[in-house]
Amino acid sequence: MKKIILGLLVLSVASMQAWAQNTLVLHPEKAEITINKNIYGHFSEHLGTCIYGGIYVGEDSDIPNENGYRLDVLDALKELKVPVLRWPGGCFADTYHWKDGIGPKEDRPSIVNVHWGGVTEDNSFGTHEFLDLCEMIGTDAYLSINVGSGTVQEAVEWVDYVTSSNESPMTDLRKKNGREEPWDVKFWGIGNETWGCGGDMRPEYYADIYRHYAGYVRGEGFQKVAVGPSSSDYNWTEKVMSGMSDKLNLIQGLSLHHYTLPINSWTSSKGSSTDFGEKMWFETFKHTMVIEEFIAKHLEIMDKYDPQGNVSLIVDEWGTWYDPLPGSNPGFLQQQNTVRDAVLAGINLNIFNNHADRISMANIAQIVNVLQAMILTDGPEMVKTPTYQVFKMYNVHQDATLIPTQLLTEDYEYEGEKIPALTSSASIKDGVTNITISNVNPNEAIEIECYVGDKSYSSASGQIVTGEKITDYNDFGKEEKVKIEDFKVEKPKDGKMMVKVPAHSVVLIQLN
Ligand code: AHR
Repeated sequence: MKKIILGLLVLSVASMQAWAQNTLVLHPEKAEITINKNIYGHFSEHLGTCIYGGIYVGEDSDIPNENGYRLDVLDALKELKVPVLRWPGGCFADTYHWKDGIGPKEDRPSIVNVHWGGVTEDNSFGTHEFLDLCEMIGTDAYLSINVGSGTVQEAVEWVDYVTSSNESPMTDLRKKNGREEPWDVKFWGIGNETWGCGGDMRPEYYADIYRHYAGYVRGEGFQKVAVGPSSSDYNWTEKVMSGMSDKLNLIQGLSLHHYTLPINSWTSSKGSSTDFGEKMWFETFKHTMVIEEFIAKHLEIMDKYDPQGNVSLIVDEWGTWYDPLPGSNPGFLQQQNTVRDAVLAGINLNIFNNHADRISMANIAQIVNVLQAMILTDGPEMVKTPTYQVFKMYNVHQDATLIPTQLLTEDYEYEGEKIPALTSSASIKDGVTNITISNVNPNEAIEIECYVGDKSYSSASGQIVTGEKITDYNDFGKEEKVKIEDFKVEKPKDGKMMVKVPAHSVVLIQLN
């Protein structure tokens, strides 16, 4: 059985019957939609060692740092070209009172991080430290407002403190704390998971709360994001969108959270991040690929209440969630990151690219040391994970124009169940055509016929992220096992090229 996956195109099965089993057709003549670079966004929460120890070690640390920020992590983040970074949570955001994190550090009160390990934090990393970090690594900030335990006044004052150039008590306070000019923050999330850790609200109630907050959270060009559903919670989308339908000017984005658990249960073991075989491999991908269906169905509901399609879908938490590493604090959500995570990142990014007409941002969880991280640290050591490599390789798609595609793919079957073996997306930027393809089959390479259009290309090059084994990962103090390597491809002839995508890999092909 073949699967047809459409990157924004509709066509009949009949018209594809003459095609080879695995075929990718690009339609450069139909390229018009920009892939928002923010699809390559990230998430940083006060959780475990994401902020303290991972990004920020304080000026007195022995770990080389600039104003308390780890130099190795800063360099890796600059190289990654992070377009947007969400902070301070997550569940943490709905317990966070921003005024605790400003002013002289010695005067800042300590707080207990009730959601994540019950650890005490000294608030040495607050609004200034986060926004300065964003400036240092050249990224936009996406701030998450405390709705669960905060107030509208607190939210309005934060917005004023951060973004206003008027003279006001809040801007005076900002200046007193050393920052004369406002920061340019456009992305504001109003609450986080208000259906769960952010207040256990019903969607009807949250829609009203959202209206209340969003009416006061004001600023030029603001993109205000409402809490959206978890995975397949269509009722949440229905109720929030219907509650906003007469006030669509207040909502620019609706968030979607979907975590991939190999064993799809929040109450039992979720599966190990390193010790897995083909069964867990298959289950993981089965549980990630459903996001395609979730996206389509949530968009269908959103379209009913927003027929112009002005409200974007913002996948502001996604990625793998495994059992915590043995011996680690279970509240710190520390896990390893293998070839499985690399292929999974490639699949999700291909899916988001192909929905670039409605998905304007996505933020993988999380940037350092938590869940499907880009970077792992251990004291003074640091590694770039397989997921980091895929994000870096896929950067060519940031702000490129999406090329609509048709993909015919064989299935990858395991114990009587099947999922599409290949996913792909394509874009064009500065005259270069970029094609990314992932092969989820852990055992076999797949040859695919690619039809790239009429244009004649003078050169073709490729890159690949894979590993010898599906469980390979990059370990501290050892040679990098999973990295971006060259991948040989032949130039297209008469608009056609053959590409053999190795087992459990993600490839990038660039045509010039
Ligand atoms: O990313 C970890 C947690 O997952 C976030 O804090 C929360 O929003 C989600 O449930």
